[in-house]
Amino acid sequence: MPDLWSGRLPGGLDPEVRRFSSSLDVDWRLAAYDIRGSLAHVAMLQTVGILTEAEARTIQDGLTALLDEIVGGAAPWNLEAEDVHSAVEEELTRRIGQVAGKLHTGRSRNDQVALDLHLYARDALRATAAEAGRLAHALLAQADAHQDVVLPGYTHMQRAQPVPVSHHLLAYVWMLSRDQERLRQAYRSADRSPLGAGALAGSTLPLDPDRSRQELGLAVLYENGLDAVSDRDFLLEYLAAATQVMLHLSRLAEELVLWSTREFGFVHIDDGWATGSSMMPQKKNPDVAELIRGRSARTLADFVGLATVMKGLPLSYNRDLQEDKAYLFHAADTVVGALSAMAGLVGNLTFDAAAMARGLTTELLATDEAEALVVDGLPFREAHARIGVRFRDVQDPPAAGADAIRKSLRLRDRPLGPGPDSVRDQIARARRLSWDLDDGR
Ligand code: ARG
Repeated sequence: MPDLWSGRLPGGLDPEVRRFSSSLDVDWRLAAYDIRGSLAHVAMLQTVGILTEAEARTIQDGLTALLDEIVGGAAPWNLEAEDVHSAVEEELTRRIGQVAGKLHTGRSRNDQVALDLHLYARDALRATAAEAGRLAHALLAQADAHQDVVLPGYTHMQRAQPVPVSHHLLAYVWMLSRDQERLRQAYRSADRSPLGAGALAGSTLPLDPDRSRQELGLAVLYENGLDAVSDRDFLLEYLAAATQVMLHLSRLAEELVLWSTREFGFVHIDDGWATGSSMMPQKKNPDVAELIRGRSARTLADFVGLATVMKGLPLSYNRDLQEDKAYLFHAADTVVGALSAMAGLVGNLTFDAAAMARGLTTELLATDEAEALVVDGLPFREAHARIGVRFRDVQDPPAAGADAIRKSLRLRDRPLGPGPDSVRDQIARARRLSWDLDDGR
């Protein structure tokens, strides 16, 4: 099959250039989106009279057959093709003949690849939000089941004040809910059609870009074609949101690693979610949490990689943009996989109330005691000093006792606090969060 530009450059590509410049092994993942975009483009070309009904039908039937094969898992038909767009068009030509040559009317691979990325990003964002929702629900189920189980809360990794397990887990749910808002914003940015921009400055033909936009269910049209073919903000927004998700997962992973040590013993990881050692027979290791913590490096690297590709690029399309896909796919796979693994890990955790109770010592009530003196009229600084003195030489404070801990929590049943009503209220509100990006769209 001659190259798409063989009119101008009839000699054919040097094989090394073909190998160096091809993106097919990476962008084949866009094949189904590419064909859906082409189907919408053809429908538009017919409505404006550029294609006859018969021509449109032939092209659409051909594309639909290719789409079925791709959805069924087909490998690229032509490994010599430069990219997924060329591979699809060449295969269509092989199957339906010359009429396939009308498909690319009024379109460039520049607006085509941008469209594919918009469609892919929408799906990836939906999948990411759905997995974040699955993790939030796993956390909520554990929070619900452990409202009466209390652990020592820490600052500076030193015992500070008592906190129910629920309250601790809910902190992560609220982190995920902010992630959800960021994903929703990225989704809004992705939900925009670049078709009609052509290579950069449109077409002389009477195209109707709004028609193809509608056909694809994208919310709005770009205002400016130069912007449309060169914009990758929506991908950077996704990668930034994914990085934030991974940072949250990494922090939770770190706590699970710590809590599952013999020294803490606050949680037991399910055997199916732990690994052993090849040498040390006794070991049970929290590898899933460690891998999540380690993999948070990836999405940040992907964000930095794509931002670096974008930095300093002049308008409009430049071939550098081909590099966007590897970062995008890698980040999407990482964040979806990590969210899913964390949901499984959390869902299968067993919390050890007795181990936590061993950490509930009298020092955790020192702040409450100082505040009790405030209620009696003492200035807080004086109360602080008076209670502080008592802990000067205490190395190993005794257990506070379950009643005292319960009382302490009840006294802190305030907004933001870990009291029982506050926790119940948080659970109820968190249950009403939506993880469907199409809600209210
Ligand atoms: N493979 C290219 C990419 O991913 C498609 C667009 C190519 N456009 C061009 N004028 N060479 O960006």
